[in-house]
Amino acid sequence: MMRAFEVQEAWGLDHLRRVERPAPAAQDGQVVVRIRAASLNYRDLLTIEGKGGTRRLPLVPFSDGAGEVIAVGANVRRVKVGDRVCPMFFQSWIDGPPDAAKRSRPLGGPLPGVLQDEIALDADGVSPIPEHLSYEEAATLPCAGLTAWRALMIEGGLKAGETVLAQGTGGVSIFALQFAKMAGARVIVTSSSDEKLARARALGADATINYRTTPDWAKAALELTGGVGVDHVVEVGGANTLNHSLEAVRVGGKILVIGVLSGFSQEIAMPVLFGKNLTMVGLSVGSREMFEGMCAAIARHKMKPVIDRTFDFEQTPQALAHMKAGAHFGKICVRY
Ligand SMILES: NC(=O)c1ccc[n+]([C@@H]2O[C@H](COP(=O)([O-])OP(=O)(O)OC[C@H]3O[C@@H](n4cnc5c(N)ncnc54)[C@H](OP(=O)(O)O)[C@@H]3O)[C@@H](O)[C@H]2O)c1
Repeated sequence: MMRAFEVQEAWGLDHLRRVERPAPAAQDGQVVVRIRAASLNYRDLLTIEGKGGTRRLPLVPFSDGAGEVIAVGANVRRVKVGDRVCPMFFQSWIDGPPDAAKRSRPLGGPLPGVLQDEIALDADGVSPIPEHLSYEEAATLPCAGLTAWRALMIEGGLKAGETVLAQGTGGVSIFALQFAKMAGARVIVTSSSDEKLARARALGADATINYRTTPDWAKAALELTGGVGVDHVVEVGGANTLNHSLEAVRVGGKILVIGVLSGFSQEIAMPVLFGKNLTMVGLSVGSREMFEGMCAAIARHKMKPVIDRTFDFEQTPQALAHMKAGAHFGKICVRY
């Protein structure tokens, strides 16, 4: 038997139960990964609260973890026992552009997630992690890291010297800050907290705006770019931020539509879209091939993900409460 958490009889943080489950075996083409650390994503909160689109209970939540391969089934050549790996967010998206089938099997809803000691996965659904990263650091990569990487480096085609605006200081946004600096871009970070903005500057942010004390942060971003606007907006705020992003972005710029922190839908003025010749790209995480490209860059630059706090496995409910409170900067992890 092994440890796990399950959302059991109904959705909600109150229904997350610590359980014992049978340890899995590796079937043909599978590996078993001993998870050593997980990281939390806002999506995990939404999923546990029943707002993430997953309908089937019970569910082992959490998409993002890292660990070591402890068993391989027949016909597995990609990885071997002892390899340090991350399970991929989309278990069937290996490479190429997205399609419905590739997006159909995310971990942590509807597929069982990594909030359990061991998990059996298709060998194709795991990827090696950079050597210089701890399991906790690597556990931040499959969703938040890869989403920021794909947004800026793949969909955004970010170039040195361009300006990126990252909203807030949560997991995706701090990765966006780090990748953008790695690529030689100028970065503007917004936050509700001056203390977090100071930490963002210490990480390389070139300019910062407190969106609470400066609600018209789009105007401030325009001023910081000489009235031109930013080249890329990493849009994680959703309903309350999208119209500000449309104002802050330059003619011909890109809005990378990722998150819904302040709500799911918003009315927008379509003439702004065509008048500014904007590209709005909606994206969800990425493929294993993109993950491999990101890991190569992280290894080359010896980049370290930013971890706010790590909780022990048994304290996972407290880790989720910590995320819900929104006081974190970067990623929240769980150690197994
Ligand atoms: N499409 C995808 O593939 C994908 C992948 C990952 C995440 N997401 C989504 O992206 C969003 C961020 O995820 P995450 O895991 O990075 O979340 P997170 O770590 O919980 O980020 C929370 C932070 O976002 C900031 N924030 C909250 N409301 C904001 C607002 N109205 N304007 C600006 N910033 C705001 C706050 O930063 P301050 O405290 O600094 O103000 C807050 O601490 C979520 O909606 C998530 O579902 C989507």
